Amino acid sequence: MKDENFLKANNARSLWHPMTAPADSLKNAPTIVTGAQGVRITDLDGHEVVDGVGGLWNVNLGYSCQPVKEAITAQLDRLPYYSIFRGTSNDCVIELAEELRTFFEPDGLTRAFFTSGGSDSVETALRLARQFHKIKGEAGRVKYLSLKKGYHGTHFGGASVNGNANFRTAYEPLLPGCHHIPAPYTYRNPFNETDPARLAQLCLAALEDEIAFQGAGTIAAFIMEPILGAGGVIPPHESFMPGVEAICRKHGILLIADEVITAFGRTGAWTGSRLWGVKPDFACTAKAITNGYFPFGAVMIAEGVAQVFESDASGKAAIGHGYTYSGHPVGAAAALACLAETKRLNVVENAATRGTQLYEGAKGLMAKHDVIGDVRGGHGLMTAIELVADRDSKAAPDKAIPARVQDVAYRSGAMVRVSGPNIILSPPLVLTAADVEVILAALDAGFAAL
Ligand SMILES: Cc1ncc(COP(=O)(O)O)c(C=O)c1O
Repeated sequence: MKDENFLKANNARSLWHPMTAPADSLKNAPTIVTGAQGVRITDLDGHEVVDGVGGLWNVNLGYSCQPVKEAITAQLDRLPYYSIFRGTSNDCVIELAEELRTFFEPDGLTRAFFTSGGSDSVETALRLARQFHKIKGEAGRVKYLSLKKGYHGTHFGGASVNGNANFRTAYEPLLPGCHHIPAPYTYRNPFNETDPARLAQLCLAALEDEIAFQGAGTIAAFIMEPILGAGGVIPPHESFMPGVEAICRKHGILLIADEVITAFGRTGAWTGSRLWGVKPDFACTAKAITNGYFPFGAVMIAEGVAQVFESDASGKAAIGHGYTYSGHPVGAAAALACLAETKRLNVVENAATRGTQLYEGAKGLMAKHDVIGDVRGGHGLMTAIELVADRDSKAAPDKAIPARVQDVAYRSGAMVRVSGPNIILSPPLVLTAADVEVILAALDAGFAAL
């Protein structure tokens, strides 16, 4: 490793960071993470902290998962790469598809299309949705509907269905034919409605209204996260996603569940769709499928959709889409080991229990600190703390405020993530009760320092 001075001096000289202004990186040195064990990361300056971010919502099993490391090493020795484009496959990816089929069977998802990450998975699902309608002779169904505040990655398709201006404006014009409805976000919504059940009904009515306006026969798919993540952890009322599903079915619109964060246990259920009792047509996965040990993803496909593709005799079902790294054997080996560990450790249970502890603890902080306007979570290990300048106006705080909380929290023992006015918590699903207390105490110190 290069020495400390070299690393600090050169970080922003030759690299640009995602989701960051280059000038900002030049002014502010980053935390340079050099090691990790269990649920803790260490940096160049010797700090060791609990990772309240879980990498980036992906390191569900923590950083010391030996079976995953061994599976990757063994696969690198055996077969580091071969493509699965037409005519070739590999043993690992075949076994993985069978395992995923079993895992996602309760969601009605029985086929897998492999990708290199979440944005790739979203792009794949959006494309296959259009193709599905073309195979069925409804070529006019090309539009997409989605939720404001939703996050679906950064490819042009995903950015177009994204519901946050930060990821859109600089890159417009985006895809035509993408339309957004209000998110079931009780703290801020155009209906001024704070009751989650009533708000869900209002958002569903807005969806019906948009479908009537666009014409159902022009719409390919509706895409949503079962619990909105990057937009600030927005869990909809339990009636919302089933309501979306019913409306989609009525109008022949496909439902894409973006489960890049929610699949594999984070919500305290094995998938977000299962949490709400919904059976989507596609589920986009990535992140915890390999826990960050290898870049990988999979789109899971419903049996009914698969049947349409597989029984087509017209030639319209040939898939003209795929990535060099689709079905990468090392990624597949990592995913197989992750899935086995995820099930063996039954992480879903700890996610639910520790999730409640974290959520209740965050609400306790709200009782103490006026800067907190809203706390959202309550379904597994996804919690957001929204900061405000004052509770009456709900005005956003100065940018320096969440940054200060983050800085003091870090020096007090926990890495937390800032996204706009929100502090977002998405720790590994294997953390202990004591680890949760470390995160809460660090945040308490951060708020107390304002
Ligand atoms: C719901 C959702 N979809 C898609 C993505 C994009 O995934 P990636 O960053 O792996 O491309 C993310 C990333 O956070 C996500 O949270």
